[in-house]
Amino acid sequence: MKKCILLLSIFFVLANCKSESKLNVESKSDIDKKVDSLLGVMTLEEKIGQMNQYNGFWDVTGPVPSEGDAAKKYDHLRKGLVGSMLNVRGVANVRKVQKVAVEESRLGIPLIIGFDVIHGYETQSPIPLAESASWDLEAIKKSAQMAAKEAAAAGINWTFAPMVDISRDARWGRVMEGAGEDVYLGSKIAVARVEGFQGEDLSNEETLVACAKHFAAYGFAESGKDYNTADVGVSTLYNTILPPFKAAKDAGVRTFMNSFNELNGIPATGDKFLQREILKGEWNFDGFVVSDWGSIMEMMDHGFAKDKKHAAELAANAGSDMDMESYAYVNELANLVKEGKVSEAVINDAARRILKVKFELGLFKDPYKYCNETREKEVIGSKEMHDAALDMAKKSIVLLKNENNILPLEKEGKKIALIGALAADKNSPLGSWRLAAKDNSAISVLEGMQKYSGNQLTFSEGAKVVFGNTNFINEVEVNSKDTSKFQEAIQNAKKADVVVMVLGEVGFQSGEARSRANLGLPGVQQELLEEIYKVNKNIVLVLNNGRPLTITWADEHIPTIVEAWQLGSQAGNAIAEVLYGDYNPSGKLPMTFPRAVGQVPIYYNPKNTGRPGPKKEVFWSHYQDESNAPLYPFGHGLSYTTFKYENISVDTSLKENIKVSVTVTNTGKVKGKEVVQLYLRDVIGSVTRPIKELKGFELIELEPSASKEITFNLTKNELGFFNNKGEFIVEPGEFKVFVGGSSVTSLETIFNY
Ligand code: GLC
Repeated sequence: MKKCILLLSIFFVLANCKSESKLNVESKSDIDKKVDSLLGVMTLEEKIGQMNQYNGFWDVTGPVPSEGDAAKKYDHLRKGLVGSMLNVRGVANVRKVQKVAVEESRLGIPLIIGFDVIHGYETQSPIPLAESASWDLEAIKKSAQMAAKEAAAAGINWTFAPMVDISRDARWGRVMEGAGEDVYLGSKIAVARVEGFQGEDLSNEETLVACAKHFAAYGFAESGKDYNTADVGVSTLYNTILPPFKAAKDAGVRTFMNSFNELNGIPATGDKFLQREILKGEWNFDGFVVSDWGSIMEMMDHGFAKDKKHAAELAANAGSDMDMESYAYVNELANLVKEGKVSEAVINDAARRILKVKFELGLFKDPYKYCNETREKEVIGSKEMHDAALDMAKKSIVLLKNENNILPLEKEGKKIALIGALAADKNSPLGSWRLAAKDNSAISVLEGMQKYSGNQLTFSEGAKVVFGNTNFINEVEVNSKDTSKFQEAIQNAKKADVVVMVLGEVGFQSGEARSRANLGLPGVQQELLEEIYKVNKNIVLVLNNGRPLTITWADEHIPTIVEAWQLGSQAGNAIAEVLYGDYNPSGKLPMTFPRAVGQVPIYYNPKNTGRPGPKKEVFWSHYQDESNAPLYPFGHGLSYTTFKYENISVDTSLKENIKVSVTVTNTGKVKGKEVVQLYLRDVIGSVTRPIKELKGFELIELEPSASKEITFNLTKNELGFFNNKGEFIVEPGEFKVFVGGSSVTSLETIFNY
């Protein structure tokens, strides 16, 4: 009799789950009721199963776990002990695992399928740091939308992006994955990416659930070494590290991922303060938190958990809802509940959060909605994808220097020597975090420039950057010392009117686990640059890199320098369009370039300290052997035209909405875009404030000789800051206002609040 009632109730619940909701988008209360009904018939093991995420059976993006194999994973799928899988991609593969979960388990709860859609799926857009250099929030949102559409066509419905970690340390390889050093820009970009990935309706099969990561302080790893300790003060935590996560949460992001690092002695995965007090408490976040790969079990290495069972207890009680690849929850949680060390309420809360997101995706109505073979063929790699990637790539390029206006290049009648292995490299422009991209699928600079056939173009490799096999697990990256191809390059340079040199890093020289202690050009590229300079000084240096580099010699000698990052599938076309002037560069640096690695961490807005300089006597904050100044400041970027800033004014008549206006004029001969930037300094604070903080920007486009008045509105949100109790406050007093085309601003004024 009992079994009959149970079967009937299961049938009712599932029928209810699959019933067509009257509304296209089910209301939250509808979903909450369905989640409650489902939880009511689930066993403890099945609830814990929702908290368990397995990697697919091939791609790994972390250390390959000793446990778990395909057979065991299939068995767990059938038992309802898996809530999610990552790195399963392609409609056929997703359908295969979804079929087991939905048609062979007792309750048929669908899987949520996660993947690192960081800057595209198969079609790669520029690395996120490059996209951030566009300061074009609409373009960045569009790029995320395209990535979502392409990944969703491959069966994916959850991306582990956007990475919103602020970092001021270019030694850390994952700066390529974020939005740079600034909290204001980073917060705006976090919102653009969440909205791009998730769209207006998560049940739309062209959208993905997004994931704000890595919560938190991962970008403040000591000495720029990945996974290293983060030890920061309250002011930095509240004013620099947390705001982009809060912006993502307020934008409706449905998942968070915690981070490998410890924060002030507590591993983030086991940090109740971060995950329960701040995220789920103060911020009232009702989505779910996934651990980073193996981060639960890594609390043993941290010296925080004595064994895996203890790690599972700590993580679950701290608010980590889903276990990525530690096998800790699936093996330990049921016993912990029976022993009273983890309450069933914790399990219910975690499972509820996960099920809610699955309902929002519409997976209960149609678990195979993302498995459409026709759409997969039509969407992946389509012209729409590549057009968007090209547009984003052009907007991401930053013109760092252009003496004698060597750029734009003339389109015909010139001899151009293209030099550097990266110029023909079709892999590196795809950058790191491009799991689903086809190898060697990027348009190279050589291919892009060959489309402009009016000039005589020669190519010579000059110097390779890296030999070796850069796979994920056993990387053999040996920076090349081979100078055997220098002579051919030198001969070509001697005969050329202009030399275009493409130098920098290979695609996997930045990214996860790719910290560098030196930030110069790898291998013998610097030597090559100096040898070429000896025979031809008309050099355009095009950087292909995933992080700021200390190219100080180049800045002192090379007349023209272009920051072209790793621009994705359409890299070569975008770079060629900028070099030949078919696109006027408009990018601005989202991260400071140091003169020397010894200056790092370096950023545009430090505190003034008690001994600012420069001073005549030696007792002020400086280096004996290097300037305090960066090589290129945050917000820097030139154009093929010029802009003038004048008439700054402040209107404080409305205390709650102070208006700052400035007039910008295009004083050059071609149309151009400019990112007008507004910075503030709260001169005296109960907690010291930075010498300036970005508090507004506007991307404008002006015809030659055209002017535009730009007005910024300053509210409490811009004037305030978090004190050391984590309270957001606004203090009366003097504020300095700075406006310009970079953080080295050209106009300033003051007002009293
Ligand atoms: C990695 C990264 C994380 C990624 C996850 C899944 O180790 O830290 O950002 O989303 O594992 O690939």
